[in-house]
Amino acid sequence: MTKNLTRTIAGTLFGLALAVGCGAPDSRTAEAVYLDETQPLEKRIDDALGRMTLKEKIAMLHAQSKFSSAGVPRLGIPELWCTDGPHGIRPEVYWNRWDQAEWTNDSCTAYPALTCLAATWNPEMSALYGKSIGEEARYREKDVLLGPGVNIYRTPLNGRNFEYMGEDPYLASRMVVPYIQGVQENGVAACVKHFALNNQESYRLCTDVSVDDRALHEIYLPAFKAAVQEGGAWSIMGAYNKYKGQHCCHNRYLLNDILKRDWGFDGAVISDWGGTHDTKEAVEYGLDLEFGTWSDGMSTNPAIAYDQYYLAAPYREMIERGEASEELLDDKVRRVLRLNFRTAMNSRKPFGSLNSPEHHAAARRIAGEGIVLLKNDGKVLPIDPQQTKKLLVVGENAIKGMTIGGGSSSLKVQREYTPLEGIVAAAGDRMEVVYERGYLGHLATSYNGVDSKQNLSDDRSAAELIADAVAAAREADAVLFIGGLNKAWGQDAEGGDRREMGLPYGQDSLIEALAEANPRTAVVFVSGNAVAMPWIDRVPAVVQGWFGGSQAGLALADVLFGEVNPSGKLPFTFPRRLEDNSAHALGEHPGTRDSVRYREGIFVGYRWHERQRIAPLFAFGHGLSYTTFDYANVRADRKTLSRSGRIRVSVDVTNTGDRAGKEVVQLYIGDRESALPRPVKELKGFSKVSLEPGETRTVSFEITPEALQYYDDAKGLWTAEEGIFDAWVGAASDDIRGSVEFTLK
Ligand code: BGC
Repeated sequence: MTKNLTRTIAGTLFGLALAVGCGAPDSRTAEAVYLDETQPLEKRIDDALGRMTLKEKIAMLHAQSKFSSAGVPRLGIPELWCTDGPHGIRPEVYWNRWDQAEWTNDSCTAYPALTCLAATWNPEMSALYGKSIGEEARYREKDVLLGPGVNIYRTPLNGRNFEYMGEDPYLASRMVVPYIQGVQENGVAACVKHFALNNQESYRLCTDVSVDDRALHEIYLPAFKAAVQEGGAWSIMGAYNKYKGQHCCHNRYLLNDILKRDWGFDGAVISDWGGTHDTKEAVEYGLDLEFGTWSDGMSTNPAIAYDQYYLAAPYREMIERGEASEELLDDKVRRVLRLNFRTAMNSRKPFGSLNSPEHHAAARRIAGEGIVLLKNDGKVLPIDPQQTKKLLVVGENAIKGMTIGGGSSSLKVQREYTPLEGIVAAAGDRMEVVYERGYLGHLATSYNGVDSKQNLSDDRSAAELIADAVAAAREADAVLFIGGLNKAWGQDAEGGDRREMGLPYGQDSLIEALAEANPRTAVVFVSGNAVAMPWIDRVPAVVQGWFGGSQAGLALADVLFGEVNPSGKLPFTFPRRLEDNSAHALGEHPGTRDSVRYREGIFVGYRWHERQRIAPLFAFGHGLSYTTFDYANVRADRKTLSRSGRIRVSVDVTNTGDRAGKEVVQLYIGDRESALPRPVKELKGFSKVSLEPGETRTVSFEITPEALQYYDDAKGLWTAEEGIFDAWVGAASDDIRGSVEFTLK
């Protein structure tokens, strides 16, 4: 295979270089400590650093192509290769262009979007995801995977929500850690993004986010902190936006003070592509590795070549003029060397694999576990071949490939199963499946030169499309409407936000017409965001199918036909109306080019809905199953919690239906009284249990005082006040089945 050949050639060249001594390790490197992998990492870094010239050091701190940075050829330190991220391994692009380079061996497995992963509420799925995508990164010889993303879901309009893990810092923290560990076990660095406060795409390159310290620490930072301290992330990506007047890619507060000093991050800070704006700030405020600053990439105009990057010649000149310290330079180089030694230079890293049957199975399994059954009266779902002999599928998202588009997470896959393909395969000869388009949405099928070659054109007018779908609905035993959003700019896509919460392309009228024509009409969304559902009372079932990756259609059909019992839960609130969301009710979105104020503070998502008693359409943590679960006997093993102690809260959960299923048991904690305002309750534990019909299991959670803390912004520290707390146990944030109180002393 080409890849093996490349490796063999590379190996031979390296061997030759050694033999003839041309630009390769010289005699000193024979005893070079930095090459000896049995030596401690820091000793190797010191050794390598001591051998490097100023020019070599500077060369390591910026890109040499769209996605690679130089190593130190003279010392045999290889280049670093990055790749997007976060849902699959991006196709190879040209040296200095975003377009795919038309390789024929770089198609990957697309895993479900991170919202779907978060919706599994299953850290085991995160571990499987990380391991699988890490193996694909390895096979493609990538050293840094640009992902995962953990920016908090603040508004349903953020075009990039689909790349993140929802609105709750605890859920995102628990889900991000195994992803990172899984990736890094492969000798590939995770690059957690976008640090920090990149919660919208509008004005993302310039707006200055104004947020209070409590919200910063309680809502927006915890998942990054967990990624660094528990996940051990080897790199982190600065965000495009500003915070306290400085761009986040060179931000004293976020990078120097919080990330590197307070959290002890020892990895490299990588800029977002084009997120660096100033040499002095980049040098002093925490950036280690600069990527994506505009360049013609070659030397046709030396003024904009890679060696004119902010951290290239201008930095070298600063040092030569004595305006920047060598100590700071060495700290940056150390971090990049550390990243390099952990990845590219790690000779023991596994070989990896691409598109293996295991990867396809993983993608399908994760997608199946993440799909959320939002509403179900049991009349249509799961589809029963006894009742449904003729099934009508309506909607563009049933036939449109969704792994292409949406910005930097766009992929080139070997095979993508659309929902219609999955449904037809699952139906087999048990029923007739017919398809009607219903509406025309986004007809483009290509992005960055990757083309699914689908032909999505249709000559019919909007009225004709609806009329045809309605006529077919009257003839069918059941209807599956498969719509939602897509990866077009202005929907679920990077670089822009949605303009409204409603469904685009007249889908609301179509759904109403279908429901009228056939009461057995279920609605399925392919999207990464909440949408308004004005027709909710008129349909018997609604499914949130997310962007499911390569195996999307198969996974969706697994759930629709009941092969997989749905067990996903919402990682963010679906408000009824945009005005019910705190960023719109109280805060600002999108603000201006200059600033956006997060005036809602800590009251994001369910924290806001509960405080204001605004019933959401579907609450955080909500998700149904084809079976039912009973919760009994919520209890605690003690009544008081000491500062160094822990309390165990338990509940007995029984599957009271007639099919096996999985339930996400959720623990929330509320503080009865506190000096500062606190949310009614906050997620502090969850556990996914698998239960056979009739089976009962006891689920337990350990509560430590840490779970009771809030961030005291006056003192700048986390604190837990003595007093009474409630532990609430339930199936969703709005479906609490029992509680116990306890006292912190
Ligand atoms: C995105 C990053 C991405 C990078 C490289 C940027 O536009 O914000 O998430 O990793 O491009 O493609």
